[in-house]
Amino acid sequence: MTKAQDALVRLLRQAYSGERAAAYAYQGHARSVRDPRVKAEIRKIEREEWEHRANNLALLQALGATPSRWLEFKMSVIGRSISAFCRVGGWFIPMYGAGKLERSNIGEYTVAAGLAQAAGHADMVPILLTMAEVEWDHEQYFRRHVKAHWLGRLVPIWPEPPPRNSIREGLKTEALTAGSRT
Ligand SMILES: [Fe+2]
Ligand SMILES: [Fe+2]
Repeated sequence: MTKAQDALVRLLRQAYSGERAAAYAYQGHARSVRDPRVKAEIRKIEREEWEHRANNLALLQALGATPSRWLEFKMSVIGRSISAFCRVGGWFIPMYGAGKLERSNIGEYTVAAGLAQAAGHADMVPILLTMAEVEWDHEQYFRRHVKAHWLGRLVPIWPEPPPRNSIREGLKTEALTAGSRT
């Protein structure tokens, strides 16, 4: 296995189990909000995290790898804890935590796409970039909510992600640079 493929498998295992934690957390989050529209929107985000998990499993299988049992256990404990915390955590903290987490997910899938390309699995790049874009949408959703809250004007918000279209552009540039080096 090449170094890039090795790193890709590690990242996909993390993402696979991380999506489980996120989906559990959103179950609690959706239960904790009163506004039916926001509830439905968080449920939709939860469904998208389950889809991401299924995609990650398919990619792992295509690479002849399996999920990590330890990460599965760890992330399900974390996800269920966050889910329970949402009941007592008020409105703001779960929204803020979700936005910050989604911000790091954008980077995770973008890096995975770069690794897939470097490992000779160009066929995996589109789905990884699509997942990065969906995480970008999730991040914007929670950012909007946090900014609209009075507390959001008092506490510093996590760093803004680069524009959505730069997710694909960045990888194209990387591919061209790699191509010009060979
Ligand atoms: Fe996701
Ligand atoms: Fe997400």
